[in-house]
Amino acid sequence: MKRALITGITGQDGSYLAELLLDKGYEVHGIIRRASTFNTGRIDHLYHNPEIYGKKLFLHYGDLADATQMVKLLYELQPDEIYNLGAQSHVRVSFDVPEYTADVTGAGAVRILEAIREAGLVKKVRFYQASSSEMFGKVQAVPQIETTPFWPRSPYGCAKLFAYWLTVNYRESYNLHASNGILFNHESERRGETFVTRKITRAVGRIKAGLQENLVLGNLDAQRDWGYAKEYVEMMWIMLQQDKPDDYVVATNETHTVREFCQVAFDRVGLDWEKYVKYDARYERPAEVELLIGDPAKAKKQLGWEPKVRFKELVEIMVDHDVKVAENERKIREVTGAYTAPSYLA
Ligand code: NAP
Ligand code: GDD
Repeated sequence: MKRALITGITGQDGSYLAELLLDKGYEVHGIIRRASTFNTGRIDHLYHNPEIYGKKLFLHYGDLADATQMVKLLYELQPDEIYNLGAQSHVRVSFDVPEYTADVTGAGAVRILEAIREAGLVKKVRFYQASSSEMFGKVQAVPQIETTPFWPRSPYGCAKLFAYWLTVNYRESYNLHASNGILFNHESERRGETFVTRKITRAVGRIKAGLQENLVLGNLDAQRDWGYAKEYVEMMWIMLQQDKPDDYVVATNETHTVREFCQVAFDRVGLDWEKYVKYDARYERPAEVELLIGDPAKAKKQLGWEPKVRFKELVEIMVDHDVKVAENERKIREVTGAYTAPSYLA
């Protein structure tokens, strides 16, 4: 039985990856942060399953800012594979907390890489770094591929770039099996509620259910290459099963504006988006990434991976889910008269 360690297991990707690895027979360990509120909503179905938790899935308190704990965990666990998905992952927020973002999203990767050396795991372990299309920023070529020069446009992008190069550097310096997945935006029913896609689909559900009046957004012209998260975590695993580590773009090679996302999402429930979407400059960023579109030809050729879920289907999966969530909330409110925000349903 292989043993995997996931940082960021409570996040969108971490939860899907945990499911995937458990399905494949792995023993899965995840690092979670202590919080004053519940933060395990996305993995509660695994955590509350007595056949899984404590038998195949184990959670450990820790933080990417805490190098000592990282070394201790790696000594204890001796994992075969490490997936570094933990991060302060919100681009807009990274402008508010640049130093924290550098520490967790950037230096966090070094803490794991050094812990791998400290625990004597360089020959045994395989390492995956969650790199990002945000590193292409002010894009130098269209579409973007693995060799496209980087030009990050946010503290988040800069931090990810640091972690990207450190991963390459440890591969070249120590012969560590370390790979970067350069993942373009990927979304799902579990996407964080403050990223634009989920903000839109939640609003659609809530407007339809009469729980919300409108939706306030920033830049509607930004273009993104949006794929389905469940398919993207599979690529993380595939990359670590190769004899040789390498870096891969994971994308759909299609791009759409935030405006188009709104159109398709509101259309799904028969509403006219223009009547509900308002603009507020506070959702703009000091520097914007205007266009992302990735060509995953290398992933297809070398690893046989290609995305199946395309833009319209993705929007519809998310809207249909959020319509149900909002409808449930409406019913609970009707019965109790109280406001409830069942965020764990996300
Ligand atoms: P997410 O939902 O925001 O999850 C981030 C995870 O990191 C959460 O589990 C979070 O824990 C954890 N985390 C945050 N700060 C931490 C810290 N100081 N120490 C330890 N863990 C910490 O992100 P995601 O969408 O799943 O993305 C996964 C990774 O891929 C991230 O590194 C992200 O930057 C990167 N990425 C994402 C995309 C995308 O489109 N989704 C694209 C490219 C790259 P809490 O639950 O406690 O907050
Ligand atoms: N979040 C947000 N909220 N974005 C908005 C809004 C809004 O109200 N209005 C417009 N946007 C625009 C942003 O300006 C950006 O151009 C686009 O919508 C997408 O924003 P996000 O959904 O926040 O994602 P992101 O592209 O900045 O970052 C995501 O993708 C990266 C990969 O390219 C995150 O998941 C990152 O962690 C990831 O690395």
